[in-house]
Amino acid sequence: MNFLKYSAFKPILKIDRKWPGRIIEKAPIWCSVDLRDGNQSLENPMNLVQKLDFFSFLVETGFKEIEIGFPAASETEYSFTRALIEGGLIPNDVVIQVLTQSREHIIRKTFEAIQGAKKAVVHLYNSTSALQREVVFNMSKHEITQLAVDGAALINKLANEYGREKFIFEYSPESFTGTEPDYAVEICNAVLDVWNPSPNNKVIINLPSTVEMSTPNVYADQIEYVCDHINYRDSVIISLHAHNDRGTAVAATELGVMAGADRVEGTLFGNGERTGNADILTIGMNLYSQGIDPKLDFSKIDDMVSIYERSTGLVVHPRHPYAGALVFTAFSGSHQDAINKGLARLKDHPDHWEVPYLPIDPTDVGRTYAPIIRINSQSGKGGVAFILEQNFGIDMPKAMQVHFGDVVKHHTDKCGSEIQPDKIFELFKQEYISETPVSLFKFMDTTNGETIVEAKLNIDSELRIITGRGEGIIDAFCQALRDTMRIQFEINQYSEHSLEYGSRSRAITYVEISGADHKKYYGAGISGSISRSSLRAVVSAVNNLISH
Ligand code: KIV
Ligand code: ZN
Repeated sequence: MNFLKYSAFKPILKIDRKWPGRIIEKAPIWCSVDLRDGNQSLENPMNLVQKLDFFSFLVETGFKEIEIGFPAASETEYSFTRALIEGGLIPNDVVIQVLTQSREHIIRKTFEAIQGAKKAVVHLYNSTSALQREVVFNMSKHEITQLAVDGAALINKLANEYGREKFIFEYSPESFTGTEPDYAVEICNAVLDVWNPSPNNKVIINLPSTVEMSTPNVYADQIEYVCDHINYRDSVIISLHAHNDRGTAVAATELGVMAGADRVEGTLFGNGERTGNADILTIGMNLYSQGIDPKLDFSKIDDMVSIYERSTGLVVHPRHPYAGALVFTAFSGSHQDAINKGLARLKDHPDHWEVPYLPIDPTDVGRTYAPIIRINSQSGKGGVAFILEQNFGIDMPKAMQVHFGDVVKHHTDKCGSEIQPDKIFELFKQEYISETPVSLFKFMDTTNGETIVEAKLNIDSELRIITGRGEGIIDAFCQALRDTMRIQFEINQYSEHSLEYGSRSRAITYVEISGADHKKYYGAGISGSISRSSLRAVVSAVNNLISH
């Protein structure tokens, strides 16, 4: 790999930067370019029906500015524009945006396409970088500026003819990040002089990182430089349009907003040319997770994933921020333990989200808590306990959690794959609910100072009646068992709770005993009656002792 054929990007030497100390306090103006930049990068561009479908999805999400295409460039884009306008499908508070190159017939066709729209952004662009000027256009800076100014002047003229109040103008010095900053300001100022903006009639100056060439801090410096040097600043909306070639479009956009930008162009899930555009979903949810209203609705994230996948033919990565199938799931034992504790603590502070490893509450984006923890060989006791509690209402005592964690680990180490909650419950029953060699058939207790229990047991398929006395039903039953089975054991721990799982409400009891060998054995019992569940738990623990 010959890295020597590349040279480092030369950042502007800007030493009075103000942006690093700023924080973002409100959502920028969003403009979705899914239907233009996103669509033009697809292997199979969306057809008319898909575009209409996607447009209404963007409207439902809350976008007020939507770049719908490049109507002079293709028949589909032209018809789509007409379908939106003639079908009355553009809500009053939504402005469509159309892209045009600085060429007379293209600008004229663009105006024809948007005729009848209540409001439209006419977005003019031409390439301004040193590389594009030299290699693609073979034009001087002066000629490139003239191209932009000519286009701007024609747009002005046509807008006046069609009704000036119906249009907002936007100019992009395409390949801005590869353009000398002073020249970028010069060409934007030249276009602004033609359009003559005012605070009531602002112009959008969009500064694209058409190809991402540097670390995001350099983009922020470039944005701050333009904000500081552009004319008509109070009449200009500075817009960002970051591509993701280095994988940092979201960061670049966030730093660009800190550097003074007012508006952000991007796409959902970051679809767009090459490695994509800045992902508005991620930027918006990043704001949300800081307590800032993103002004976009991401509450049904799985619906967003499906319409996106259906329309673009692309797949959302399982690790995609906020939307991927696995992003709220922990497999690792220590993470599960921390999440489990965090969620438990949340019960005391339900209004303030602070849970380790979960930057946001998954239910905010329409997910459930169920898949937060999934179990494989990396998982631990906390995760297993979480699954049993969430899915089956089983809240084991701590010592039993540790024991059962080892049981599950032994299983997952052997099978090598993830196990589902039902399998975990089955393992729980196999391990702790045992009816051989002893099973409880019937019992009767009478209390008269002391408790007397008479129980009918099935021992090795033979029915036997046992009787014991003690200070309570469990004590009396244990006494009877010890005498009949001739085994030694003591109850170390006993606990129970009601089990709201399935249609019936039942009790579950957990028992820890130690045998003559001083080892610990566990058992559980489930029944509609607390006494029966307790005795069953004792029987299960004793069966475990016997079988070990
Ligand atoms: O990436 C880009 O520079 C563009 C322009 C047309 C704004 O998409
Ligand atoms: Zn772009």
